[in-house]
Amino acid sequence: MNKLICPSMMCADFSQLKEEVQQLDQAGTDIFHIDFMDGVFVPNFGMGLQDFELIRKSTEKLVDVHLMIQHPAEYVERFADMGADIIYFHPEADQHPARTLDKIRAKDKKAGIAINPGTSIETIQELLPLVDYLMVMTVNPGFAGQKYLGYVDQKIEKLATLKNQHHYEIMVDGAISSERIRNLSQKGVTGFVLGTSALFGKEQSYQEIITQLKGGN
Ligand code: DX5
Ligand code: ZN
Repeated sequence: MNKLICPSMMCADFSQLKEEVQQLDQAGTDIFHIDFMDGVFVPNFGMGLQDFELIRKSTEKLVDVHLMIQHPAEYVERFADMGADIIYFHPEADQHPARTLDKIRAKDKKAGIAINPGTSIETIQELLPLVDYLMVMTVNPGFAGQKYLGYVDQKIEKLATLKNQHHYEIMVDGAISSERIRNLSQKGVTGFVLGTSALFGKEQSYQEIITQLKGGN
């Protein structure tokens, strides 16, 4: 099964961010994942615009932005203009998510929604035909290094059955270990945002880790 490896760059070593991007790029990264937070939608502050600009100009690979912010509709065009390839926002933070998805697509970018652990499929059912990527949060958003919320597995399985009727890819974000990649990949998950659980702060090199993760069935 194809596995998209998406390093969560808020977990990278910021004392050498450019080198981190180059090493992760060469190691086989598919999509660089950049978390933005406003301290309101989530009680934390993620990466800054300058971090995004540095990462964007340091790689030709895809770069996504995960907007954990209120009123994302006001910013999606700005991130598109800055070079984001995929833009995820939380429908929980947007009164007109269908319109925001149209805004992203109008900029020729891939449109994604990220849904919180407590958000049910029923509340976003009408958005399913409109998204290219569906990011299922497996932790409450805002912080790396949290524990995986097992109750989300049921929602992932339901979305996997629904995805044949639509065109979205399922991505997961939060406490994703190598074991969970194997398990969730078999359930139909395509993309894996990796932070401290599987990728950063380990003894092995990024090359070794990503090669293993892609090879594991
Ligand atoms: C959490 C972020 C994730 C997080 C993943 O709100 O969206 O990208 O950094 O890191 P780990 O794998 O440590 O949960
Ligand atoms: Zn994220």
